[in-house]
Amino acid sequence: MKQMSLFPILSFVVISFGVASVSAQICLNNGNFSSNSTFNANRRIILSFLPSNVTTQDGFYYNGSIGEGPNRVYARGMCIPGSTADDCSDCIKTASDGLVQSCPNQTEAYSWPGDPTLCLVSYSNTSFSGSVDSDGRVILTNTGDITSNITKFTEIWEDLVVRMLDIASAPKDTPSSSNNYYTANIIALNPFQDIFALMQCTPDLSSGDCDYCLRQSARDYQSCCGKKQGGVVMQQSCFFRWDLYAYSKAFDNIMVASPPPMTIRSIPPSAGAPANQNDNRPSNSHDRNRRGISTGIVVAITVPTVVIVFILFSLRFVLCPRRTSLQRTKYESDTDISTTNSLQYEFEAIEAATNKFSVSNKLGEGGYGEVYKGKLPNGTEVAVKRLSEMSGQDTRKFRNEVVLVSKLQHKNLVRLFGFCLQGDEKILIYEFVPNKSLDYYLFDPEKQGQLDWTRRYKIIGEIAQGILHLHQDSHPTIIYRDFKASNILLDADMNPKISDFGMATIFGMEETRGNSKWNAETLIYMSPEFAMHGKFSMKTDVYSFGILILEIISGKENSYLYQIDENTTAGNLVTYVWRLWTSGSQLELVDPAMRGNYKSNEVTRCIHIALLCIQENPEDRPMLSTIITMLTSNTTILPVPRLPGFFPQIRHN
Ligand SMILES: *[C@@H]1O[C@H](CO)[C@@H](O)[C@H](O)[C@H]1NC(C)=O
Ligand SMILES: *[C@@H]1O[C@H](CO)[C@@H](O)[C@H](O)[C@H]1NC(C)=O
Ligand SMILES: *[C@@H]1O[C@H](CO)[C@@H](O)[C@H](O)[C@H]1NC(C)=O
Ligand SMILES: *[C@@H]1O[C@H](CO)[C@@H](O)[C@H](O)[C@H]1NC(C)=O
Ligand SMILES: *[C@@H]1O[C@H](CO)[C@@H](O)[C@H](O)[C@H]1NC(C)=O
Ligand SMILES: *[C@@H]1O[C@H](CO)[C@@H](O)[C@H](O)[C@H]1NC(C)=O
Ligand SMILES: *[C@@H]1O[C@H](CO)[C@@H](O)[C@H](O)[C@H]1NC(C)=O
Repeated sequence: MKQMSLFPILSFVVISFGVASVSAQICLNNGNFSSNSTFNANRRIILSFLPSNVTTQDGFYYNGSIGEGPNRVYARGMCIPGSTADDCSDCIKTASDGLVQSCPNQTEAYSWPGDPTLCLVSYSNTSFSGSVDSDGRVILTNTGDITSNITKFTEIWEDLVVRMLDIASAPKDTPSSSNNYYTANIIALNPFQDIFALMQCTPDLSSGDCDYCLRQSARDYQSCCGKKQGGVVMQQSCFFRWDLYAYSKAFDNIMVASPPPMTIRSIPPSAGAPANQNDNRPSNSHDRNRRGISTGIVVAITVPTVVIVFILFSLRFVLCPRRTSLQRTKYESDTDISTTNSLQYEFEAIEAATNKFSVSNKLGEGGYGEVYKGKLPNGTEVAVKRLSEMSGQDTRKFRNEVVLVSKLQHKNLVRLFGFCLQGDEKILIYEFVPNKSLDYYLFDPEKQGQLDWTRRYKIIGEIAQGILHLHQDSHPTIIYRDFKASNILLDADMNPKISDFGMATIFGMEETRGNSKWNAETLIYMSPEFAMHGKFSMKTDVYSFGILILEIISGKENSYLYQIDENTTAGNLVTYVWRLWTSGSQLELVDPAMRGNYKSNEVTRCIHIALLCIQENPEDRPMLSTIITMLTSNTTILPVPRLPGFFPQIRHN
């Protein structure tokens, strides 16, 4: 554990985090005990009982003590309302273990771990007094800044916070007190981003003290960090967190509220605050600032990504922020508000661009909906994909995926310009690519001749570049999954551009294998492990790419039935190629439309690479980066391919 000495004076510490979830153990330096003391033994016992003691209480709040005299340890634990007993117990256990680990010899400490539920654990050598103790309050902030109109953001944020303060601190004898000093809320920041906020006080406080504690937290946060993309303020008696994504299960059943008209300009101090006291402490709060202030402050940091921003006045404690184990794949506050803003189009604008989706503008119908040609007011030609309705889609997720996909810009990827979400309409706006798709030329006897070997060879190399970009430069990695010749569009110079990538994630199809969208055409390109078990990885795309290479060379679809000998045994492209390869006659595969104008070493090398791509075992298939090296360097020695994997006989009509 790295220890850092900081200023001798502080009241709260501000820490910014670049990770999705943060929990901190705050060890107050009000006293020490030695590791073999009875106090320590008592601390371990009471903390180890805490998960079961808390979950057996109604309302999941427990306080108790163990031991006598100076060895008496008081401890308490609570979970937010709505937690399941299992989540609560896990959370309390995480917090208790964390405290024992991070606070080896401090007589007082607390922790508010936040995932997947929220709970509090604290212990002390003195009884919890039922008053606000502002020592050791900690502010954590997201490292990112709000980039949109900050005035508007602040208005919405303050409105939300002020309303939540009223609900959270409602006196216990009022109807809303069933909330138990707790409230969680979601408010729309703009059409594609929401603010998720949560407040909780410990139940021992009075209504006025709860209001004081939370208000102090919100004001502290705002005074230091109002422009950040998320923040947490932890105190011993209350908790406040807001963020741009749903960080807790608590939000699962909450409706998003639209922001009311704005009036409030800043968060007023607590109404119950005594006059003439600029820090507004409630009169019954005991002031520990008077005890134990002496030497330096020790702040122990265990996560190197955590940055201490600044520290204000008085008191000392040890702080150990830790990442919790919950993995988060994507994080909404990564989504820059202004980016999302610039990507959104009005439905009226799309209607105008496409001549009200007129039949003459229709380019075709894909697996996900109809595609129209459109022209934006600035003259840019676009392809507008009007997505067919799919029920149960999460629009927030949709927006996130669109933002993610729009960031992928590469000359061999069709660029996503933006989206439109209005009522039931979900529309994607793409760069317009004029020359139709690869299958249109490749499998048509009349047009095959337009693609000579030089062109085909170039197309193979550029498609590889496009897939590499998807695999390597998107975070998280985009796996194409239903890669096929009809998804390769050709621009005015016949350069390939991959279209429709990211659709699987936009539609949230991660789990679905038996999805009706998978038609026979798609299955032709599917690797065995994906087709049969629904497993996918980057190697699934490598398999599809291998099939595509063979199709480009032969000018035939994988499903095309080949006559193998006079006894007319039929096989698909893969079985046919394998047979040619093993007999050394692979050049027979070449599309007759090329009339023998090709470089046989290039063709042989491409077939060789394709066979490596379609190996049965995904681990035997090369990565895209390796494939590109193989394609560009004649000197690279290629491994000997083994019997490829292929999906048994698919009929395609
Ligand atoms: C805690 O222990 C350290 C060294 O063991 C000592 O310097 C310090 O004064 C102690 N603090 C308190 C509050 O007893
Ligand atoms: C708690 O510990 C502090 C610091 O060691 C000490 O001053 C105080 O008297 C203790 N309180 C009780 C009730 O033992
Ligand atoms: C408390 O722990 C710290 C670090 O673990 C150690 O340096 C210090 O000596 C300990 N103090 C006592 C009184 O055990
Ligand atoms: C353990 O406790 C005894 C007194 O009970 C004390 O003499 C000894 O120094 C302590 N050992 C440690 C390592 O703190
Ligand atoms: C707390 O848990 C322990 C162990 O499960 C049990 O012995 C004790 O009675 C519990 N205390 C209360 C107040 O439930
Ligand atoms: C538990 O909390 C209640 C209410 O705040 C208090 O009256 C009681 O003394 C506490 N029990 C212990 C053991 O601290
Ligand atoms: C920012 O938002 C405020 C309040 O909604 C509005 O009055 C102002 O015009 C906006 N500024 C910009 C640059 O959009």
